[in-house]
Amino acid sequence: MLDGYQLLIPGPITLEPSVLQEMVHPIVPHYGAAWTAYYRETLECLRQVFRTSGPVFAIPGSGSAGLEAAISSCLQPEDGLLILANGFFGERLVEIAKSRHANTTVERLPVNESIAPQTLRHALEQIEGIKAVLVVHSESSSGLLNPIESLGAVCREHGVMLIVDAISSLGGIELDMERMNIDVCISASQKCLEGPPGLGLVAVRSCVWERIRAYKTPGWFLSLQNWKRYEEMWGDWHPHPVTMPIPAFRALRMGLERVLEEGMEARWRRHADMARWLLEQTSPLGYLPVFPEGVASPTVVALKPPKGMTADAVVSRLRDEYKLLIAGGMGDYKDVAFRVGNMGPQSSIASLKPLVTALGHLSRDSQIES
Ligand SMILES: Cc1ncc(COP(=O)(O)O)c(C=O)c1O
Repeated sequence: MLDGYQLLIPGPITLEPSVLQEMVHPIVPHYGAAWTAYYRETLECLRQVFRTSGPVFAIPGSGSAGLEAAISSCLQPEDGLLILANGFFGERLVEIAKSRHANTTVERLPVNESIAPQTLRHALEQIEGIKAVLVVHSESSSGLLNPIESLGAVCREHGVMLIVDAISSLGGIELDMERMNIDVCISASQKCLEGPPGLGLVAVRSCVWERIRAYKTPGWFLSLQNWKRYEEMWGDWHPHPVTMPIPAFRALRMGLERVLEEGMEARWRRHADMARWLLEQTSPLGYLPVFPEGVASPTVVALKPPKGMTADAVVSRLRDEYKLLIAGGMGDYKDVAFRVGNMGPQSSIASLKPLVTALGHLSRDSQIES
């Protein structure tokens, strides 16, 4: 177990002490008047973060539980689903969707380019029967950002539903479901929302919920309609169908309070400023960003090591010599880049400075060796 190491991976993140503390309280019942009020307030916090007035769901599990719940609850078998995939997590959406929804079409796009709105427009004109589009906002495997607002505008023009995997972006990168025309948005507790792993989060705009609320969906645990049914049926004592992971839920609530106290705009600015700061510090040391500003995700900062050093060596030397945990690249970026989670409390000079210092030492060592 890597206890005592500083976590700078792209989630799960280092938790603030007040958030961590929430997980060591004695367990309270997940029902009754006090719990129900607390649960509803927490969903209200989530609504403010997603920026929607529609229903939100906090499902025990990870982000993938939210993705699977969204896919299986928001589509009817005859609805065409189009997935635009430009990275490892785009491919993950394909895997999940194909396990639930046969009528899925995949457009595989270059992994080194942000999805162009024109590409989506063209696909919607060419492929018949598409009712929903599914994309990743911040492609955590490579640190590439897709232009959700522009893709949302194309979906609006074509009258199709937009479903967004915002697992590594919500709370760290500008996102507004109503303004950006994001119909269904999925995230998770363990990244920019400052909570621990344990909950998959799904938000649905009211106008969309009105349409899908009567859908007959497969399964029970991951059916949003079933979650809503229990919210209504057991509303005043147990407004969810299953036992909630109370420590994780409480910690997420504390994280959300921190998020809302800082304010969404201030948060988006802080994550962008800190990503820029990290690049300003590391570029002179020979570490270059994989993507230019504008298409680079501010929450998952991907860097290429200087000549003569491998991404793998950077990750393992930081771990073994400096007790700093960052992540290697994934998918096509496996041996090319390393990734830093610039998320929540990790997005600060205090957290990132030790990394910059260590990266400076590694680059100096490699110059001496060559
Ligand atoms: C963009 C994206 N999608 C999906 C996932 C899968 O989330 P989870 O591991 O919480 O199921 C991740 C996890 O890192 C992610 O970054």
